Amino acid sequence: MTQVLTVDPQTPDPAALARAGQVLRRGGLVAFPTETVYGLGANALDPAAVARIFAAKGRPAHDPLIVHLAEPDQAAQVADQVPPIAHRLWARFAPGPLTLVLPKHPAVPPAVTAGKPTVAVRIPGHPVALGLLRAAGVPVAAPSANKFGHTSPTTAQHVLDDLGAAVDLILDAGPTPIGVESTIVDLTTDPPTLLRPGGLPREALEAVLGRPLVVAGPGAEARAPGMLPRHYAPRVPLWLFDGPRAWAREMLWQTAAQLARGQGLRVGALVPTEDAARLRALGVQVADLGPEADLETAARRLFAGLRGLEAAGVEVILARTLGEAHLGLAIADRLRRAAAQVLRPPHGQRGP
Ligand code: TXA
Ligand code: MG
Repeated sequence: MTQVLTVDPQTPDPAALARAGQVLRRGGLVAFPTETVYGLGANALDPAAVARIFAAKGRPAHDPLIVHLAEPDQAAQVADQVPPIAHRLWARFAPGPLTLVLPKHPAVPPAVTAGKPTVAVRIPGHPVALGLLRAAGVPVAAPSANKFGHTSPTTAQHVLDDLGAAVDLILDAGPTPIGVESTIVDLTTDPPTLLRPGGLPREALEAVLGRPLVVAGPGAEARAPGMLPRHYAPRVPLWLFDGPRAWAREMLWQTAAQLARGQGLRVGALVPTEDAARLRALGVQVADLGPEADLETAARRLFAGLRGLEAAGVEVILARTLGEAHLGLAIADRLRRAAAQVLRPPHGQRGP
């Protein structure tokens, strides 16, 4: 039976953290909130425990895990070399939604890094995650706590829905505050490479680095094997309108009208508040991302919105991107990966 312990997100009960830390030290699986999404944790130095993560998620062995630490000082336990730039980034952004790829230490079992010579390291900013890491006293390997290929979980209920009995203990601290996964930067390349846009905006990183990041192109899948084209998929097809705002809004609405009124389909839409009324008038089920200018709210509601539309039994989900600045880049990335179809404007109509 999965044990669920409800804890306060700011001041979690030390007894609950101690219990969860003990489960981890004994080779068990603990799902816990981070500031981005819920993670499925195991002792990173215990290959049998790590194997249970892959089994629980149905995750292929070639997709490496992120190792979570309580402090930057612990990085030397899992990374062979911690370059000065890592310390500069952590001085500004740790704890927080940033994952750094570094050369791997031999103590880290190959299963964690999928046999790669590098290891992904993150110091999460959520008080429950930090408390758990301190209580466990070991580095914790943790992917997002969803079934492989499904939308990442932002609540404990999402974890139960996907993984249920495969997890020994879940720390439930309510919805996660950021809602999209950490930003992953590979520091083994020069200049550093942005492998996955996420909760820490690229602009903030580049301000500290003092130069642009290289953005991982089509070859990125070899370096971040989890970054498969379809990776964050809802269980119903998602059509994404990816282009200038005015075009995307109008095309989304016209398509919704055609599918809902013309074809009698049950249509869902994941859209900003500004779009909601016009779509509801067509009978469309709307998941509201909040005011269009508020990207933080949109990120926080993104994955729960997708899951909510799935649960509502819609036959198709329509969504649009919200630009590429700040959290817009991570939102666009996740929507593109979730999309069964990406619709773009004809040439000549691009631009903001
Ligand atoms: O916000 C997050 O990062 C969440 C929370 C739980 O910390 N974790 C998360 O883990 O999103 P996961 O496993 O769902 O995604 C980790 C990504 C995968 O795309 C994986 O391929 C990549 O990190 N990754 C892990 N180790 C890597 C490495 N050594 N080199 C390149 N990419 C790596
Ligand atoms: Mg994941």
